[in-house]
Amino acid sequence: MPATSVIGLQWGDEAKGKIVDLLTEQHDVVVRYQGGANAGHTVVMGGQTYKLSLVPSGIFHPRVQCVVAGGVVIDPASLLKEIDGLAGRGVTVGKNLMLSDRAHVIFPWHFEEDALLDGLCTGGEPIGTTLRGIGPCYRDKVGRSFAIRLGDMYRDDFRRRIEQTTRAKIQMLAGLDEAIKTKLDAEKIFRDYSGYAERLKPFVADTTAYLLDAVEAGKKILFEGAQGALLDIDHGTFPFVTSSNSSGVGVSSGSGVPARHVTKVVGVIKAYTSRVGGGPFPTEQDNATGQQIRDRGNEYGTVTKRPRRCGWFDAVAVRYTARLSGVDVLAVMLLDVPSELPELKVCVAYELDGRRITDFPAQVDDLRRVQPVYETLPGWQQDITEVRRIGDLPENAQNYLTRISELIGRPVEIVSVGPDREQTIFAGK
Ligand code: IMP
Repeated sequence: MPATSVIGLQWGDEAKGKIVDLLTEQHDVVVRYQGGANAGHTVVMGGQTYKLSLVPSGIFHPRVQCVVAGGVVIDPASLLKEIDGLAGRGVTVGKNLMLSDRAHVIFPWHFEEDALLDGLCTGGEPIGTTLRGIGPCYRDKVGRSFAIRLGDMYRDDFRRRIEQTTRAKIQMLAGLDEAIKTKLDAEKIFRDYSGYAERLKPFVADTTAYLLDAVEAGKKILFEGAQGALLDIDHGTFPFVTSSNSSGVGVSSGSGVPARHVTKVVGVIKAYTSRVGGGPFPTEQDNATGQQIRDRGNEYGTVTKRPRRCGWFDAVAVRYTARLSGVDVLAVMLLDVPSELPELKVCVAYELDGRRITDFPAQVDDLRRVQPVYETLPGWQQDITEVRRIGDLPENAQNYLTRISELIGRPVEIVSVGPDREQTIFAGK
């Protein structure tokens, strides 16, 4: 029963949605298992653009069961908006969407905390979160006392828990925001969330049991990672990370499906690098080249619309995340974006305190100090958006792919040369 996982190997926004959408045809179940509405997946189909945050990209295939598993944090208002938006455009959202009763719920106090706390204790540099309440919700999950899960919204003591938690949150946050009392109204929160709960009820299920049954029944499962492995809470560029396990290690904890069932891991990378928010980024090009990549790649956040920081491909970082995530094959996205550049640089090592290193540093302070060691490759300077076979790519584009593959130690299986489904090259075809 083959299960596949799709993992972003950089700082997110690697265009995983397109790969998930393409691979969905070969699977029966598509699972989101970590993160929340901080993620933004863009799927372009038949000239139409769809932006998804929480709903798995498999939703466009009515035959496929979509699962939002227990490791995800759910903002019910934004999820309902997404569901309504899809339904309004004729996409079926019914029994084909399942939400875990174990998933933790994002409440208004989480949004307040996200805005109040970001940057308070990270040495002055804000994490630059998406302000979707993600970190505070995961903090409450781990802290346990104030956590409310989707399944809790249907229990008799839901009102009491809202009242107690609102009171406690007001007390805790009053030192940071005197007006917090006026912003958190337990009665209104209870009313709003009871309404959300009612509307979400048809989708709520024990997804862990469902997925374990599906695995045993031999169904083909596709795990859709959100964010990228360098944002992993345990293995990323801490503290400039998201609050879940966004590398391959999160599949099992977030979904409840043992890791040994994942038989193929597709690592998704851009042909260059981008990052949104704070934190070190060794190959960043805060210059005309970075701007050219940003403009050509439309590198503005799907969720927050923030301009993304852009730079050269970093093989040290991706070799690390490919190994960490157990990647079998690579999908190289947005290869058409650097098409105009006369030459491309690839970071093959770092220099730290006069030493050449190829292991990704654990400490952000070290990562801030590294000097990238670059190899320069000639560009191809021609339009590749109509190319459909690797052999038809310009020689310099083929050489670029070969070098990336060598440095990461994984074969390139998929190359994307444009946003549409059709603009995809499968190696070996
Ligand atoms: P949070 O996930 O909103 O707490 O944000 C933490 C960090 O992760 C910030 O730097 C965000 O910009 C980044 N981040 C979160 N989700 C995404 C994503 O889907 N793509 C890229 N960056 C993300």
